[in-house]
Amino acid sequence: MDTAELKRASGVLGQDTTSDQITLAAPRPQDGPLVHDLIAACPPLDRNSAYCNALQCTHFADTCVLAWGGGEPVGWVSAYRKPGAPQTLFVWQVAVAEYGRGRGLALRMLQSLLARESCGGVERLETTITGSNTASWALFRRLAERLRAPLKHRPWLLDGAELPSGTPTEHLLTIGPFAPPSQQA
Ligand SMILES: CC(C)(COP(=O)(O)OP(=O)(O)OC[C@H]1O[C@@H](n2cnc3c(N)ncnc32)[C@H](O)[C@@H]1OP(=O)(O)O)[C@@H](O)C(=O)NCCC(=O)NCCS
Repeated sequence: MDTAELKRASGVLGQDTTSDQITLAAPRPQDGPLVHDLIAACPPLDRNSAYCNALQCTHFADTCVLAWGGGEPVGWVSAYRKPGAPQTLFVWQVAVAEYGRGRGLALRMLQSLLARESCGGVERLETTITGSNTASWALFRRLAERLRAPLKHRPWLLDGAELPSGTPTEHLLTIGPFAPPSQQA
């Protein structure tokens, strides 16, 4: 998918997106507690700490997305460019409030993020998914199709090794390479 197609698909105009009365924007520092509550309402996501969400909404705001609908936060993506491999965007968490699901919002948030100036030069996306998270597998497979990019995966953070015993293994999923979304119109 080239830049123009990516922008058409995500409805991107500049950094933010407005579509179906859902507005996408980088989070503000004061949004941390709202993000914390949204994630708490979206199992099986790890809740992390309020402090972690505060850092995401400040240091990592350029690579995070908060979706607003009717004045309420309805969707969230946290991500960062990998230290030592900045052409790779690592997606930490994706959350959509139950009432907002099934309308393409998660996909739109990811596409909108990739089209941001702050993601200039990104040509790979990574995330981790547990084996049982059907929705997440479907989301990222769909994204790979949209980007017309190969997808591969392998077990990475293992139950009883990198993760405490009884914690489901996280599979590392990689999409790319894909054409770096430029910010030229
Ligand atoms: C995963 C999640 C973010 C998806 O949000 P969403 O806005 O409903 O997803 P989208 O509408 O953009 O769907 C994208 C694709 O995934 C598919 N999909 C989404 N949820 C699905 C489900 N429960 N089962 C199967 N496929 C699903 C959609 O059908 C769509 O594919 P399609 O275009 O071929 O139809 C949402 O279900 C959620 O917040 N879950 C709880 C938190 C979580 O598990 N996050 C995982 C990522 S870390």
